Amino acid sequence: MISKLEELRRQALSELDSVENPESLENWRIRYLGRKSELTQILRGLASLPIEERRKTGAAANELRVFLETSLAAREEAVREIEIARSIKEGRLDVTLPGRPVSIARLHPTTQMLRQISDIFTSMGFEVVEGPEVEWEYYNFEALNIPQDHPARDMWATLWMDYTDSDGRHPMLLRTHTSPMQIRVMESRQPPVRVIVPGKVYRYEATDATHESMFYQIEGFAVDTNITLADLKGTLFEFARRLFGKERKMRFRCDYFPFVEPGVEMAVDCFQCSGAGCQLCSETGWIEILGAGMVHPEVLSRVGYDPDVYTGFAFGLGLERMLMLKYGIEDIRLFYSNDLRFLKQF
Ligand code: DAH
Repeated sequence: MISKLEELRRQALSELDSVENPESLENWRIRYLGRKSELTQILRGLASLPIEERRKTGAAANELRVFLETSLAAREEAVREIEIARSIKEGRLDVTLPGRPVSIARLHPTTQMLRQISDIFTSMGFEVVEGPEVEWEYYNFEALNIPQDHPARDMWATLWMDYTDSDGRHPMLLRTHTSPMQIRVMESRQPPVRVIVPGKVYRYEATDATHESMFYQIEGFAVDTNITLADLKGTLFEFARRLFGKERKMRFRCDYFPFVEPGVEMAVDCFQCSGAGCQLCSETGWIEILGAGMVHPEVLSRVGYDPDVYTGFAFGLGLERMLMLKYGIEDIRLFYSNDLRFLKQF
């Protein structure tokens, strides 16, 4: 039996050496390693051999199988090269054909906008700080003058975490805005502070063209001595001009946010119709871009800043909203549905 295996090895090897194309390679594989090959028959017949011979023949036959498989793989490689050489010689393979272009990844439009806005504010002396997306009720609401049962909580549809503290309350949530970082930053620093906070926020919301359950905001605030509403206006005006164009006009109107006093809503004149009225601005000539105000004295006292010494302004804006306005995008869901036809335009 052993000499039979030796004979098989010699025969298989000498045949393999002359194989020069994929078809004869496959034939060789069937002949020497296939189901009906002699080697397979020998391996199958092992069980009927006496124990001593079974051990010897089994070891030799298995060794031969591994050897033939390795030789086959090596020959496969050689055949591939022979084929390529032949194709080039016959002119079938044109190696001068340009390769397929590699598609280069790019930044998501939200990331691009985030960087653009961060650049604008850092150039004005603001620092970028990030904060937790899972937040305590205290930072998201209480410290921002929104106590429990206050109607202002209804302004933010909240996703509560399944967590109950020892008082039986539910103090943990997915932050509904980036404003809680005002508190965290002020608690850990002394004025002057000039910070922007980009990040994800979450709302318990049925999604539609203008609502997503997750989106990005940028919070910003500055606290120091002698900061006035004029600083707020100057800073935000400069921001809007850099983002939406030099000719922009702006408009401030009163608005209510519990953590600022006074609170304002800022609009720029419509950069599509320059104020004449069009679809983008709902025929009003103005586009609201953010909420802002002077940091409420109660908020300052709560973090240990003396409101008689320090004042500050704060603002908050939605990143996707900026993109929708800038590029005339009508559905916020496009940003996170990963349709490359949409994403490739940025
Ligand atoms: N946090 C507010 C929201 O999510 C936005 C906002 C309004 C932030 C006024 C501010 C502000 O800092 O002064 O709707």
